Amino acid sequence: MQKQHLLYEGKAKKVYATNEERVLWIEYKDEATAFNGEKKATIAGKGRLNNEITSLLFSLLHEAGVNNHFIRKISDNEQLVRQVTIIPLEVVVRNIVAGSLAKRIGLEEGTALEKPIVEFYYKNDDLGDPLLTEDHIAVLQLASCDELLYMKQMALRVNDIFISLFRSCDLQLVDFKLEFGRDETGAVLLADEISPDTCRLWDVHTKEKFDKDVFRRDLGDLTETYTKLLQRLGGLSCTK
Ligand code: C5P
Repeated sequence: MQKQHLLYEGKAKKVYATNEERVLWIEYKDEATAFNGEKKATIAGKGRLNNEITSLLFSLLHEAGVNNHFIRKISDNEQLVRQVTIIPLEVVVRNIVAGSLAKRIGLEEGTALEKPIVEFYYKNDDLGDPLLTEDHIAVLQLASCDELLYMKQMALRVNDIFISLFRSCDLQLVDFKLEFGRDETGAVLLADEISPDTCRLWDVHTKEKFDKDVFRRDLGDLTETYTKLLQRLGGLSCTK
């Protein structure tokens, strides 16, 4: 497999074409950003850790029968994925109130939700990634009703799988964000990354944070936090 020209550079990743049709080469960067790019830092080791954790989580999802774009990890900070056209929606699942939900509806951070909430946000930097209703999504023609239903069902399925996975590591899955894309046949496929950059994870007992809130809120060393998370995940029998 050969890496070819750069197709896209995002906040945390670079995406390259390869010599194989519909296969992309992803390079995870050491950059951390928050608040729509307002806060930025280079954090040594972050790219390697997120590549490792994303690869692990997508592999576990494959094993659990959840189709996704991940093909294989090819180096410390690089992986191969199937090419899809990303649907410009961030699909957020929440089990516990935190972050923007606490601000939006005024419930205290840490309040457990009786059942998971699924939200859709518009991936649009100029608009500040607003929350969308299903009617907004229809007006903007971002996804069909069937696609929305599928994304919601898949997000809840991933939530079920991850809740028990993280519980076995003494972690609570507070919330997380997924992205989906369409393949060449138009089928919707789970894509992008799933890492502590895109999830909130709290220690079950101490509520210590194992995610990017450590960077957002200046709570400590992000490399150390992500290393500890990987160690906890590495302790799982299914990863050996
Ligand atoms: O900020 P908010 O509370 O809405 O975030 C919910 C979840 O989605 C968090 O786990 C956060 O890390 C993730 N998220 C993300 N990328 C964004 C916005 C949120 O990964 N652009």
